[in-house]
Amino acid sequence: MMMLNRSQHMGGRSQEKNALEELERIRLQLIDRCEYQNEKNWVASVSCLNRISLSKVLFYDEIVRRITNIPGVVMELGVQWGALTSLLYNLTSVREPYNFRRQIVGFDTFSGFPERSLSQAELDQGWKAHDLAGAADAKQLAERCLEAHQVFSGMSHMSRHEFVEGDVMETLPVWFDANPSATVALCVFDMDLGIPTREALKHVLARSQKGTVLVFDEYAHPRFPEEGMMVRQVIDTMKLQPMKSELLPYTSYIVL
Ligand SMILES: C[S@@+](CC[C@H](N)C(=O)[O-])C[C@H]1O[C@@H](n2cnc3c(N)ncnc32)[C@H](O)[C@@H]1O
Repeated sequence: MMMLNRSQHMGGRSQEKNALEELERIRLQLIDRCEYQNEKNWVASVSCLNRISLSKVLFYDEIVRRITNIPGVVMELGVQWGALTSLLYNLTSVREPYNFRRQIVGFDTFSGFPERSLSQAELDQGWKAHDLAGAADAKQLAERCLEAHQVFSGMSHMSRHEFVEGDVMETLPVWFDANPSATVALCVFDMDLGIPTREALKHVLARSQKGTVLVFDEYAHPRFPEEGMMVRQVIDTMKLQPMKSELLPYTSYIVL
């Protein structure tokens, strides 16, 4: 079996790796040097946000703007550290400040890939159980981050987020059963693997409606080919068009 080191897993040229490390050093120095708290947040975050991360922010703003006129929750399948959860929370706070019903629900094992989610092809590619696990306190960090962002929302007295821990193949049907009135406005599939994407997609489709947006983060990613392959097993792409934003190379979305 081919084993990959972390940089092979995550990709990128050595110049990019060096530039990322340099931005990280600068970010910590800026936090240290800036005098005011709001200055630390703005200067350190924005100066060091590279083109790739900025493209993601702009892409998800396009996506959130597509759902402001349809009901339902925003789901994120595959949360890891909660970065995208925070972004989705903040974008919905900006774009629909008074929609207290726009729940952001993030699902993750918080311990990386479950063994039974990996196909033989993915194992042969070098992926293994618990890859992409964050730290032991990743969920707590994500929770703290969302609580801090809530303070800046237009309806700061109301919580609009929830994290669901466990294998999505078990937790997603349970969540839908516990929330019979919930429909899906937006679901971001970001688990990277084929099997949980296929199974979750079936559950999500059953609660979707016309206009629901489904984002597949690795729809055309050579390191995760099974995500797109499994989507195409469930969805007829001759009838539903996967759209590619000009901002991101691997991600596609479908508007039902
Ligand atoms: C690429 S990361 C998610 C990154 C996150 N969406 C972001 O942009 O900040 C993939 C995550 O999917 C999770 N994952 C993979 N298979 C899963 C499954 N069957 N159930 C729950 N989580 C799963 C992993 O634990 C990992 O944290």
